[in-house]
Amino acid sequence: MSNEAEPWRAAPVQPPFPVDRIDVWQICLDAPESAVDLQEVLARDEIGRAERFHFTRDRQHFVRCRSAVREILGRYLGIPAQDIRFSYEANGKPQVVEDQNPQQLRFNISHSSGLAVIAVASVRAIGVDVEKIRPDVEYLELAERFFSTNEYQALSAMPSNQLARAFFACWTRKEAFIKACGDGLSFPLSEFSVSIDPDAPATLQEVRTDPRAATRWSLFNLVPQEGFIGALAVEGPAQTIERWFFNG
Ligand SMILES: CC(C)(COP(=O)(O)OP(=O)(O)OC[C@H]1O[C@@H](n2cnc3c(N)ncnc32)[C@H](O)[C@@H]1OP(=O)(O)O)[C@@H](O)C(=O)NCCC(=O)NCCS
Repeated sequence: MSNEAEPWRAAPVQPPFPVDRIDVWQICLDAPESAVDLQEVLARDEIGRAERFHFTRDRQHFVRCRSAVREILGRYLGIPAQDIRFSYEANGKPQVVEDQNPQQLRFNISHSSGLAVIAVASVRAIGVDVEKIRPDVEYLELAERFFSTNEYQALSAMPSNQLARAFFACWTRKEAFIKACGDGLSFPLSEFSVSIDPDAPATLQEVRTDPRAATRWSLFNLVPQEGFIGALAVEGPAQTIERWFFNG
């Protein structure tokens, strides 16, 4: 049973393994003073990625995010953050390697404008997306180009003062779904539809290539901070969602 209106709370130091539960953690990435030390918990390939960022702030955000993700996953798995090993699916979705993960802990990460969200479940595929609601976007132009016909028409009928939130609600619901599937942008965005009303429950309405998909996946709204909007997609029926702040 989902509980979309529940507040975000301080996280327990030792979270129980998320059997029949989804945990969503939000992480503030603006902590530059600790970024150098945090780098020590990253693997060599992650340090290589960090070094390739052009802007210091982006590098610090990446390092802080990966360090926090390692710390969080380590708490569930009983493994020190620096010892966790990731493997990557064909389209880049990270997972904890099988030999460290017998109970199939699943996770997904999203970041936007200094805020990261990590969603954690067990066994079931999971995807999360968060976006800062930006005013400088040609909402209808982008929707016509990328969204399904149904979504574009529904968005076109929204009052103009609700357009930004509706656009980003639709965007994050679509992203969360393709991230749960793990396909990335190889999944055509116009081939499936989600609900677009940001104040109503998130739903997967139709997947053209898979008529049963809408009954196999659950979507949920996430509002981690004022000015941000997000969504969570998980395989199977609704479950309890816990929302936690990561405090290092
Ligand atoms: C990579 C992608 C899966 C998500 O990218 P994004 O929305 O820009 O970025 P997010 O912050 O939400 O997610 C990035 C994280 O997703 C994870 N990820 C990478 N590939 C993934 C995949 N195929 N499936 C699921 N998760 C993936 C990674 O952990 C990554 O974080 P990291 O680089 O710090 O390790 C892909 O969908 C993409 O490139 N999207 C572009 C955005 C777009 O055009 N959206 C249109 C929406 S209508």
